[in-house]
Amino acid sequence: MDSIQIHDKHFVPFISRERIDKYVEFLADQITSDLEEGDVPIFIGILNGSFMFAADFMKKFKGDCHITFVKMASYEGVNSTGKIKHLVGINEDLKGKTVIILEDIIDTGNTLAEIYEIFRDKEVKKLKIATLFFKPDVFRKELPIDYIGKSIEDKFVVGYGLDYDGLGRNLPDIYQLKV
Ligand code: IMP
Ligand code: MG
Repeated sequence: MDSIQIHDKHFVPFISRERIDKYVEFLADQITSDLEEGDVPIFIGILNGSFMFAADFMKKFKGDCHITFVKMASYEGVNSTGKIKHLVGINEDLKGKTVIILEDIIDTGNTLAEIYEIFRDKEVKKLKIATLFFKPDVFRKELPIDYIGKSIEDKFVVGYGLDYDGLGRNLPDIYQLKV
């Protein structure tokens, strides 16, 4: 892996596709073994960032399941704006269902707080959160995160679905902002 440039910024190799694959597998295994027998979960991928993670995760999850995607944007550039747009895309009746959110990365937790808010009145059987990456140093909420693929330091990353101003989502590996 070589260093790359996206727009005005330089990024260095951080997590290889092989490592990412291990984290995704770890999450899929953990979630599979936590489910009650006969429980058919609905996975909800948070777009855009989680599309690649969700696709790889689905291939590793063993058992019956559903998947759908919702979109909510809270991030521009390299700083979380804290402004959350509304959620688009939930048409399913989630009442009595086991819902598992698939997030690419949890940073400040603003998006996560919004997700909890949205699901509060949906009468789901269980709501679980799975995130591929987590930045514990910036997380400011007292909300449970059930499954974490990998905790990382508070530096901006791109690749594997994550973007910097719209670019970099197609990179198969993760790169970290060079400071
Ligand atoms: P939060 O609301 O601050 O937790 O951030 C949530 C969203 O911001 C994530 O789902 C990502 O889409 C985006 N995000 C947070 N950190 C990064 C990063 O390091 N690189 C790219 N996107 C990020
Ligand atoms: Mg996201």
